[in-house]
Amino acid sequence: MNQKDNNTEKTAQDSSAEVHEIEKAESAAKQKDSSDDDGKKEDNKVKSGKKEQKMESNDQNTELEKFFTDAIQDIYYAEAAIEQSLAKIKSKATSEELQEAIEDHELVTKKQILRLEKVFKHLGEEPKKKKCDAIDGILKEVDEMVKSTKDGSMTRDVAIIIGAQKVEHYEIATYGGLLQIAITLGYDKIADLLETTLDEEEETDHLLTEIAEEHVNFEAKEE
Ligand SMILES: [Fe+2]
Ligand SMILES: [Fe+2]
Repeated sequence: MNQKDNNTEKTAQDSSAEVHEIEKAESAAKQKDSSDDDGKKEDNKVKSGKKEQKMESNDQNTELEKFFTDAIQDIYYAEAAIEQSLAKIKSKATSEELQEAIEDHELVTKKQILRLEKVFKHLGEEPKKKKCDAIDGILKEVDEMVKSTKDGSMTRDVAIIIGAQKVEHYEIATYGGLLQIAITLGYDKIADLLETTLDEEEETDHLLTEIAEEHVNFEAKEE
């Protein structure tokens, strides 16, 4: 073997060792990449797990979640104001049927207040009232309508029914909207609670329509 051949062989040995080294390095890098990927996947799993945990415990990290909590505080105030109004109005109704309907809805309203307290619990919040100008305005109007009618008249019942239905429609609009937001946010348990209340408000609205259309309006017409 001449010197040149010897050099060539050395070079060939060197490059073969180099290739081997590169392959080893690439394989190590691939393994690292794949373990990094697994790490990222685990990370994502942990993150999404955390998100699910937070689902119904409001950390107010989005505008919509904050808006939702504010709106729950608003309807919590409204329900308490409605309960007081119903307690005041029930004795002013002329017909026994309307008196009973209002008494029943007063009890239902008490349950709805407790249900909202459960909603606050799911949100991880203390129950808090936020002044609701809309319900204050509607209840003031109901009060004035009732006062404008004579004690013991069926026109009084007409006024109470129209007033109560204004309140029910405010509640139906509120609970209907809040239910859809709860579904959007993945607040499943809260959505169930709100849906129960929405159904009760709709039932009350239908019952009031029935009382008005079957008796009260006709009897008031005769006064
Ligand atoms: Fe209500
Ligand atoms: Fe109601």
